[in-house]
Amino acid sequence: MDKVIALGDVTLGEGVDTWNTIIFLYNSALKEVQTKVEILNDEFQQVHQYNPIEYIKSRIKSSESIVKKLKRCGHDTSINNMVNYVNDIAGIRIVCSFTSDIYRLAEMIGRQNDLTVISVKDYIKHPKDSGYKSYHMLVTVPIFLSDRTIDTKVEIQIRTMAMDFWASLEHKIYYKFEGNAPKYISQDLRECSGIVSMLDAKMLQLNEAILEAKAAQEEEAGAV
Ligand code: GTP
Ligand code: MG
Repeated sequence: MDKVIALGDVTLGEGVDTWNTIIFLYNSALKEVQTKVEILNDEFQQVHQYNPIEYIKSRIKSSESIVKKLKRCGHDTSINNMVNYVNDIAGIRIVCSFTSDIYRLAEMIGRQNDLTVISVKDYIKHPKDSGYKSYHMLVTVPIFLSDRTIDTKVEIQIRTMAMDFWASLEHKIYYKFEGNAPKYISQDLRECSGIVSMLDAKMLQLNEAILEAKAAQEEEAGAV
């Protein structure tokens, strides 16, 4: 088999051609991960008649956002720095119904042989100060080109619909105030994050009760 190289280990030029190749690689990596996740969801449907995923969103970070992030982190704007320091150029967001689905999916993703999990951040067990909750995985996926194989990074965010609702609103507010939101607004958002957790816990409980009641009904019907 060809040698597998990480994108960060390649000496990259700075021209438009390199840029296009890099974006092509990230796009391919995004497609690979998205397909893997869709297959896991379909298999789950086959075996358990249940879809853990409500929807998936994916995106490639815009060149403006990449440059902004490099500057914010004190790095020069170069393609080499971008592949080394910006981990979320390719990003996929998986939105589930229940918190239990998040951990089930994360485990299934971690078991995929050809994905390498670089890091995991569990902002559900350890929410950010803002109140942000989500499960993050940084993975690499091998992209098989005609003459070589390149490991390419993809950031996976897994969260419930309620967490996604909260994060979307918080993101808008953060940008509206350019990070300087009045204290009471940040406080209210943190409070809402608590409500989101309560809602998620209640919905999970309710779903379990529904499944139990359904199983009991079926057993009863079978006994007649
Ligand atoms: P970034 O530089 O923001 O990418 O952070 P990081 O490299 O330290 O990684 P982290 O896992 O903390 O966050 C990555 C991504 O999670 C961000 O790009 C956002 O999409 C999301 N995120 C993190 N914190 C927050 C938050 O407080 N609010 C919202 N709405 N999203 C967040
Ligand atoms: Mg980011």
